[in-house]
Amino acid sequence: MGAIDYQSLIPNNVNLKDDRRLQRALERWQPNYLNWWNEMGPDNFQTKDVYLRTAISADRSGWAHFDYVKMPDYRWGIFLAEPEPDRKIHFGDHMGQDAWQTVPGEYRNVLRRIIVTQGDTEPASVEQQRALGNTAPSLYDLRNLFQVNVEEGRHLWAMVYLLHSYFGREGREEAEELLARRSGDVDKPRILDAFNQPCDDWLSFFCFTMFADRDGKYQLAALAESAFDPLARTCKFMLTEEAHHLFVGDTGLERIIRRGAELTLADPNGDARAQGGIDLPTIQRFINYWFSYCLDLFGSEISTNAADYFGNSLKGRFQEKRYSEHTGLGQGKSFEVYKNGAFSNEEVPLRNAMNEVLRDDYIDECGNAVRRWNKAIAKIGADFELKLPHRRFHRHQGLYGDNFFNPEGEPISEAEFEANRDKWLKSDADLAFVRQLMQPCYEPGKMANWIAPPKRGIDGKGQDFEYVRFA
Ligand SMILES: [Fe+2]
Ligand SMILES: [Fe+2]
Repeated sequence: MGAIDYQSLIPNNVNLKDDRRLQRALERWQPNYLNWWNEMGPDNFQTKDVYLRTAISADRSGWAHFDYVKMPDYRWGIFLAEPEPDRKIHFGDHMGQDAWQTVPGEYRNVLRRIIVTQGDTEPASVEQQRALGNTAPSLYDLRNLFQVNVEEGRHLWAMVYLLHSYFGREGREEAEELLARRSGDVDKPRILDAFNQPCDDWLSFFCFTMFADRDGKYQLAALAESAFDPLARTCKFMLTEEAHHLFVGDTGLERIIRRGAELTLADPNGDARAQGGIDLPTIQRFINYWFSYCLDLFGSEISTNAADYFGNSLKGRFQEKRYSEHTGLGQGKSFEVYKNGAFSNEEVPLRNAMNEVLRDDYIDECGNAVRRWNKAIAKIGADFELKLPHRRFHRHQGLYGDNFFNPEGEPISEAEFEANRDKWLKSDADLAFVRQLMQPCYEPGKMANWIAPPKRGIDGKGQDFEYVRFA
């Protein structure tokens, strides 16, 4: 393999061409990755030219290089954010020491677990989204879907790089397992539940990139604080790509919401569905479903794992530098605990509440988006307000997972929850309606009826640009 030009085949800033060990590991893994991509990646579009962004270097000029490319030829690269000279650990028990350039023995297993859990979400989302290209509402959206997909593929590469470089044989085995699990598979499911839910209509896709990718942003940001420097730098670079995924979700939902509001007003009976749009109550039910599933991704409210991650300086808070105190000791966080039919307040040591601290920031950011969407609805003049459900609603694990709550967070019986399920969460009838709306619209500049056009194109291109070539 010495003749292979690694720099152009696998763009990287980890000196791959001189790293024989990493080359050997990747030589074995890369063909399996391609097999996985061809089997589980975007259905039907592998031979089409797609106008994609590729990272060819980690600096400003190179991380967003645009050109037509066939997805299997995409150059999945390995990039870490530039090193910070003399970086020190800035939170937890190791605060003040030099950041680690190798894995400390005592944290080997837990770091591997963290990396595998993050890594597993990347291919999972590609699998969940693999059929969506067949029903894209426009070439612009089709291209954005594939951009998200190839970058999730690259994020898998990023995690595999860490496993190969720092975790020896176990790391190589984990890298193979990342290609062996399948989203939604009964025998070999993906690790986290939200990544086993089907995502085969575009309303779900935009909810997913809005809410699940945003969980990704918060997890990556917390890991970008890590004392293990290669992990911190890897996550930092991934965040630059993640921003586009969140943009796709946020603006995609906003465009469906605006169109839904317009069509509600256009219909004599205020029925957006009758006009071929998606009505706002249906959008609300999809939001309720995906938001609540994604809240579970942050883990239990009270968690000794979370305490250990923070205490061991492995995983920080979102933008740890915003805080003035970085040990997390001698402080608490209070929770509303629901037990035996009554709420009580319980104070928990802050370190044990770190999952909830991260979830708080996430909920705030989601709330900002909902406020923007409501402004757009009000501007159009429709009478509807979207709301995020309460954090206790429809949870499957943690403090609230064993009880039933309505979207306002009030305790209810299981029977009451079930009686209202289809009012609060996307129902089979909603899904059937949304699915039949999903007809492909592949003509440059054209948009499916149920979604408003984007405000601008990608990379300065117009809306009628041929983002995907069918020839
Ligand atoms: Fe990702
Ligand atoms: Fe993403």
